[in-house]
Amino acid sequence: MTRVLTTPALATTGLKAGYGRTEVLHGLDLRVGEGEIVAVLGPNGAGKSTTLLALSGAIPSTGTVELFGAPATGSVHERSKKGLAFLPDHRGIIRALSVAQNLRLANVPLEAAYEVSPELEVLKDRKAGDLSGGEQQILALTRAVVSKPRLILVDEISFGLAPIIVTRMFKLLASVAEQGVGVLLVEQFAHLALAYADRAYVLQRGTVAMEGKASDLLADMESVERSYLGSAGAAVD
Ligand SMILES: Nc1ncnc2c1ncn2[C@@H]1O[C@H](COP(=O)(O)OP(=O)(O)OP(=O)(O)O)[C@@H](O)[C@H]1O
Ligand SMILES: [Mg+2]
Repeated sequence: MTRVLTTPALATTGLKAGYGRTEVLHGLDLRVGEGEIVAVLGPNGAGKSTTLLALSGAIPSTGTVELFGAPATGSVHERSKKGLAFLPDHRGIIRALSVAQNLRLANVPLEAAYEVSPELEVLKDRKAGDLSGGEQQILALTRAVVSKPRLILVDEISFGLAPIIVTRMFKLLASVAEQGVGVLLVEQFAHLALAYADRAYVLQRGTVAMEGKASDLLADMESVERSYLGSAGAAVD
């Protein structure tokens, strides 16, 4: 779909980040337009999760990060107040609280959440820590979507979910993007992500090895798959 892009939801130049003295991201230029779904692909250890951590403000970074046209320098909390929703790979839900309490804590109207994901109403009094992995994913994504963000960063939403739920979650992200929300999604399974994304970046050892329109990358899966080689355990859908 062609969209008229105005101020990007996210733009980075020369983004560098790491852990202690180890630099993991070596200078990334990334862009997510309003209403655009952008995938970050790449093998295990390429730096996908680190990218999201840096963008969310959870770990320090250098280079520039602009959110909604303004420099982002604040903490996770400040960036979230500006409209950034971050779903880390551990989901960020509070295990000791019930499903309903987790939703309330995020100031999310319960009815809206139950409308998006009816199974959460059935599970509303269950402790979040007692949910299955897939149910926790649904809770986390529903909470993020219903909190009316302007940009969603999501790490491996497909992980541990049944295929039918994966499809539902991707469709949910697509419908949110239709309303103008930017989506940056990290995925190991390239085919899956490219089916929903407008554009994609392929990371390799902390640098952008490939980037382009999702349809172009899908047409050249051989090159995408080649960029995954040399990484033990990497999988391409
Ligand atoms: N907390 C940490 N402390 C030190 N090094 C880390 C930490 N987290 C990740 N790393 C290292 O940073 C590099 C990038 O890791 P990252 O988690 O960003 O990769 P990824 O692309 O998300 O991989 P995966 O597909 O396995 O989730 C790896 O070499 C990893 O070992
Ligand atoms: Mg990761």
